[in-house]
Amino acid sequence: MTSHRPVHRVAIVGTGTIGASWATHYLARGFDVTATDPAPHAETALRSYVDAAWEGATTLGLSPGASPDRLRFTAEMRQAVADADFVQENAPERPEFKVKLFADIDDATPPDAIIASSSSGITMSVIQAQCRHPERTVIGHPFNPPHVIPLVEVVGGTKTAPETVHDAMAFYASIGKRPIHLKKEVPGHVANRLQAALYREVVYLIEQGVLDVAGADDAVSWGPGLRWGVMGPNLLWHLGGGEGGIQHFMDTLMPQMAGSLWPALGNPQLTPELQEQIVNGVLEEADGHSIDELATQRDAMLFGLLAVRAQYAASGAQTAAARQSA
Ligand SMILES: NC(=O)c1ccc[n+]([C@@H]2O[C@H](COP(=O)([O-])OP(=O)(O)OC[C@H]3O[C@@H](n4cnc5c(N)ncnc54)[C@H](O)[C@@H]3O)[C@@H](O)[C@H]2O)c1
Repeated sequence: MTSHRPVHRVAIVGTGTIGASWATHYLARGFDVTATDPAPHAETALRSYVDAAWEGATTLGLSPGASPDRLRFTAEMRQAVADADFVQENAPERPEFKVKLFADIDDATPPDAIIASSSSGITMSVIQAQCRHPERTVIGHPFNPPHVIPLVEVVGGTKTAPETVHDAMAFYASIGKRPIHLKKEVPGHVANRLQAALYREVVYLIEQGVLDVAGADDAVSWGPGLRWGVMGPNLLWHLGGGEGGIQHFMDTLMPQMAGSLWPALGNPQLTPELQEQIVNGVLEEADGHSIDELATQRDAMLFGLLAVRAQYAASGAQTAAARQSA
């Protein structure tokens, strides 16, 4: 039985795209955060990110005592994790690199602290291979940007203790995340597989000349994507089945989907020409707006949607949609 320490101090290892956003989230939840990254300008870049993201974090709601001033930085990884209660690792996505890094983090972190990896594609069974205390290591895979999007996928490796998965789930839930437990390791975890499945069809439809790039984006974001922002596909089919609900859907509509539509789905050839077509189409769609401008727009709309979902849950509506919002 592994007993993990209560979390007051969080260490962030790797402060690029994901690490900087995680740091913002933990600071916003009122933790002391120590970050580490060997890149020459990492501290300046991290502090600028947190400063720029703080307004958004404030919109989402700060925990008592939350402050960007509670961020410490050291280029020495061992120093950063030495007194950590929870470590969130966000270093480059290379298997042999993560294996060595995790062995080093494990060696320097108190043995009763959980070490979580944000890895998008490498399983914890691989990452924990050289750890002395692999039982406290776990995947805690966020969705970008972690200080805005609630989902975290939690999955252990073969040597991870069940208590670690349980405690990591409870910890993430306690800090406003929406953790889901993957009961088995699968390549790419789950959310990226779902994205990949849909995107394969998007690329196929562009390849086949059915839609241009902007049209394909509209087809997702003004249709099914709007609904997926409030309910998952299984529950939505319950509504799609009309009065007979999901059973009616299974009896009448699902056989058609599985029988005719699934076999008709495409498998595009990702040629350089197709890639160029998509790049050009996206740049045209972006219409000169910078990535920062688009990210600000995206986040402003996401804050609104998250606020509506929170309001709906707080209203006490006893519905499945409210449960999905809570
Ligand atoms: N970008 C995404 O959308 C996304 C989403 C979810 C999860 N992830 C995962 O998060 C992790 C980081 O991805 P990213 O997109 O932030 O990459 P990134 O390249 O933006 O950041 C990686 C950071 O790690 C630092 N680094 C290099 N060596 C290090 C070391 N020895 N110790 C500590 N830090 C070190 C680099 O200097 C860099 O700042 C990856 O495992 C990735 O799979 C990424």
